[in-house]
Amino acid sequence: MRSSPERSQGRNTRLPDARVDVAEDIATLRDRLRAGRGSVGLVPTMGNLHEGHLALVAACRQTCDVCVVSVFVNPTQFGPNEDFASYPRTLDDDLRLLGDAGVDHVFAPSVDAMYPEGRDGTVTISLPVLANTLCGASRPGHFDGVGTVVAKLLNIVAPDKAFFGEKDWQQLTLIRAMARQLDMPVEVVGVPTVREPSGLALSSRNNYLTDDERRRAATLNRVLTGIKTAVEDGCRDYPSAEERGSRNLVEAGFDVDYVAIRDAERLCAPDTETTSLRILAAARIGRARLIDNVGVEIARTSDRVRYAG
Ligand code: PAF
Repeated sequence: MRSSPERSQGRNTRLPDARVDVAEDIATLRDRLRAGRGSVGLVPTMGNLHEGHLALVAACRQTCDVCVVSVFVNPTQFGPNEDFASYPRTLDDDLRLLGDAGVDHVFAPSVDAMYPEGRDGTVTISLPVLANTLCGASRPGHFDGVGTVVAKLLNIVAPDKAFFGEKDWQQLTLIRAMARQLDMPVEVVGVPTVREPSGLALSSRNNYLTDDERRRAATLNRVLTGIKTAVEDGCRDYPSAEERGSRNLVEAGFDVDYVAIRDAERLCAPDTETTSLRILAAARIGRARLIDNVGVEIARTSDRVRYAG
């Protein structure tokens, strides 16, 4: 193969005297390699499926020719004092639901199949800036485990698209960043959160709630949408809004981990470049640690200054 200065500029020209097809950027090469193959979608799950997972499957089936669902309770994303051992495992019910939903393939590996060299012998994917904030601050190592298992699943299935719920906003953001930074040939698709009529986001961990806790758990979404309304009405004192939200949750019986207003993509405190906010919370009620978030768009501060001038 010849090399020339133009060829390193990321062009995809067919060189006049080349007898082979030359792709000069990653996306072009991959598009060409995939041509003619049906599109494959992956929905990674830890099982114990509910309507939220089925919404991911529906989104996958709408846009991909082949739908693959993985069911794997991933030990590396659970801390030593977390619920790995007791996490609900309901594979028979899951397979029935997935069959009814028209899924083409289920991948349900053992821990040994996923980590044949053991937990400590396995490469770890770490995105510290996105991983150590919010939920990562109180769950050290959690997002390294998520990034690692999702990278492995993406390598195993090689899907064109992978589907994740927006309820786990930090996870979705981190997986998008991982795919982008590692040039993974996959589109990461976020699917809106499915909620009970009370507003409570569906989650396998809702199974831990008593009836009374479930009623009070609906406050989580009410508090977040209350903050969203305040921001839409012009509130820019984010620390006070977070503080008020946190107080409301404590009054409803939650043990609050955080209520935070962040830049939706970078997960940092909003700055002059922020146009998309995410209002996120994590809090415990009874045995369950619940998370939820809502989005709100704002004008960039630098734009507002420009308009005012
Ligand atoms: O969101 C989940 O269920 C898990 O974190 C995931 C993405 C399947 C990785 O284990």
